[in-house]
Amino acid sequence: MFLLQKAWRTAAFGVYGFTQFTKSGFQEHSKRFKPEDMQIQMQGKNCIVTGANSGIGYATAEGLASRGATVHMVCRSKERGEAALLKLQSTTNNPNIHLEVCDLSSITEVKAFASKFTSEHKPLHVLINNAGILEHNRVTTAEGLELNFAVNVAATYAMTELMMPLLEKAAPDARVITVSSGGMYTTPLTRDLQYSERNFDGTVQYARNKRIQVALTEKWAETYGDKGVGFYSMHPGWAETPGVAKSLPSLSEKLSGKLRTSEEGADTIVWLALQPKEKLVSGAFYFDREQAPKHLAFAGTASSHSLIGEVADRLRSLCRLSF
Ligand SMILES: NC(=O)c1ccc[n+]([C@@H]2O[C@H](COP(=O)([O-])OP(=O)(O)OC[C@H]3O[C@@H](n4cnc5c(N)ncnc54)[C@H](OP(=O)(O)O)[C@@H]3O)[C@@H](O)[C@H]2O)c1
Repeated sequence: MFLLQKAWRTAAFGVYGFTQFTKSGFQEHSKRFKPEDMQIQMQGKNCIVTGANSGIGYATAEGLASRGATVHMVCRSKERGEAALLKLQSTTNNPNIHLEVCDLSSITEVKAFASKFTSEHKPLHVLINNAGILEHNRVTTAEGLELNFAVNVAATYAMTELMMPLLEKAAPDARVITVSSGGMYTTPLTRDLQYSERNFDGTVQYARNKRIQVALTEKWAETYGDKGVGFYSMHPGWAETPGVAKSLPSLSEKLSGKLRTSEEGADTIVWLALQPKEKLVSGAFYFDREQAPKHLAFAGTASSHSLIGEVADRLRSLCRLSF
């Protein structure tokens, strides 16, 4: 039964992906997009975009900066971050773009960044947890965390929790947008956060990480429902980015010419940042500017979300957060 369900999930994900997640899916879905949704200015809004030097994160930062937002780009490489900053400043003419260097695979660095950033007491209107990786080998960080988990989950969790005081300052307009992936459809939520099984599979671990992001978003919406902060997870579709070229070269080759651009991948992130909160559902998962299911039919993944309380407790302890 378990193996059959797993095979069904993979097959259903493949069909959904090839028909909806590619460029043609975006072109089809964009026929119902409303141009006025994107004609909203963001002057005076403070935004953080993690992984903003490349791919979807860069396109997101550009989408926000071109609408006048103050954008803080969180990047691990000073050199790559500065190159992206210069490019963004020249394409958007926005003087309010800042580079914050932080390696998100280190909880210590996330905490140091959060401590410095929160000491300025500025309201934070939009936090975009975009940085992500798919590492195929089992790599352990200096802090003893499996690397995919450290960047995709632990950093997302710690950054969001540590930014809550600043997000609350921007309430009721504050929001957290977490860039998950349709890959999460292939797996339920599990307790095994750091893939302790033998035969490490980075693709499976990535999908598990992305499932946690969706379940955490649901949990945050419930926990912080009265704080005026909205929480949304989303899938960008399959976009041609440096990350995909590096981590999934065969998919990248097979779908050559059929992948979305980074801007098309960022479209729903920017849309979520711009829309009046009344239009959005906190805790929901979005794809191509509308709510999408968190589980595929007959996939047997829905009941696993009941584990999220346990997972969140474990994350708090692993990230050594005290609240
Ligand atoms: N592209 C797709 O088809 C697709 C599909 C589903 C979901 N997504 C999600 O979309 C997000 C963006 O991915 P992308 O495709 O745009 O990939 P990308 O081009 O590789 O961008 C990822 C960004 O994350 C940064 N990053 C990675 N590790 C980091 C760390 N330890 N500390 C700080 N920053 C770090 C990267 O920095 P460096 O440049 O320094 O490596 C880069 O700026 C990810 O969360 C990914 O899972 C993408």
